Amino acid sequence: MTMTLDDGAARAVSFKSMAAGTKADYTLLEGYEQAHAAGTADRIVDALRQLDGSMGGYKISRLDHCLQTATRAHRDGADIDMVVTALVHDIGDMLAPFNHDSVAAAILKPYVREECTWITEYHGLYQKKYYIHHFGGDPDARDAYRDHPYHESCIRFCERWDQAAFDPDYETLDLAFFEPMVREVFGREPYDPAHIRPGAVGPA
Ligand SMILES: [Fe+2]
Ligand SMILES: [Fe+2]
Repeated sequence: MTMTLDDGAARAVSFKSMAAGTKADYTLLEGYEQAHAAGTADRIVDALRQLDGSMGGYKISRLDHCLQTATRAHRDGADIDMVVTALVHDIGDMLAPFNHDSVAAAILKPYVREECTWITEYHGLYQKKYYIHHFGGDPDARDAYRDHPYHESCIRFCERWDQAAFDPDYETLDLAFFEPMVREVFGREPYDPAHIRPGAVGPA
């Protein structure tokens, strides 16, 4: 059932603790939650814009890194799920500097195929291939997942798009180019099996 908030008046529940709530209260909240969920794509775009000021020391901003990762994926022929994944993969940087991959994966999980969520969750580990040896770490730690069905996809994501996307001279597409894709993906029915496609590699 689709709820709308078209009565123009702000209404609130009767309860002060959840246990005291009535069915009418929770029906009212369902309408607010659906209205809130409909704004997810807008909030994703806003959160990407906020990345513009994060992560000093690189030659480009975190937003430009995300845009460049998505641009490289798009020009490589990646499908919409993977391009939006590339765009959003570092969106957790602002609030979760020690587990930004998990945060981004949780945001994407209801909307993209499982392969893309997995890549997002593990890209932090896979990216260590390119730098962790400078600190005495194991660049091949990702080999622990060598038999996983998404292992090769994650290697490709990191090698071709993520680790390569720090180039200030690359012709990167702007956020407006990707906004329609963000709106399509985050406008999907959440957890729709037709989009999640557990175990599948690549687009349908
Ligand atoms: Fe990352
Ligand atoms: Fe990245």
